[in-house]
Amino acid sequence: MAFLGRSNVGKSSLLNALAGSRGLARVSATPGRTRLVNFFRVGNELYLADLPGYGYAKVPESMRREWEALAVSYLVGRKSLALCVFLVDLRHEPMEGDLTLRAFLEHNGLPYVVAATKADKLGRGEVARRQRSLEAGLGKNAKAVFVVSAETKAGVGELWKTLRAAALAHGA
Ligand code: GTP
Ligand code: MG
Repeated sequence: MAFLGRSNVGKSSLLNALAGSRGLARVSATPGRTRLVNFFRVGNELYLADLPGYGYAKVPESMRREWEALAVSYLVGRKSLALCVFLVDLRHEPMEGDLTLRAFLEHNGLPYVVAATKADKLGRGEVARRQRSLEAGLGKNAKAVFVVSAETKAGVGELWKTLRAAALAHGA
């Protein structure tokens, strides 16, 4: 499983929430903290990969290219990759980097689910409205769209079930 999404979207936090033990993945207050691919093993059957975020405005062009090279070399042609988890911030419209990532996943035939993070920051009505918008828009070709919160753990159990099922089906 690879966790992908722009910087500060909450990848490391969601990994921690999924793994159920805080401090496992590195969580950053300053965007652009996760620099390398970090791996976590959960139980015997599941490897989770925490990739660095993209699209942070202050990141220089050279670093952006570095990210692309890293992501491409990690993701493309990796047989053990059962599923990608594509994170977006539930509160915001997709950024250019999100659209680029989606095009990249689809171009390379990589299966993905969308996980919309930070649901705790919106009210119920707004959560439902944003979820529908994601299902019709950015996430329309995704296997599923999940609304999650690393803070309250909402949706985390449901995402976990899907990840486990994908890992088992993949024979990982
Ligand atoms: P990079 O490693 O820089 O790419 O960032 P990241 O995507 O790993 O984000 P990270 O998990 O470090 O979270 C960034 C900030 O968002 C931190 O301050 C987190 O506490 C906060 N955050 C993450 N998930 C949630 C959430 O579900 N709810 C709320 N309220 N805050 C969150
Ligand atoms: Mg991170």
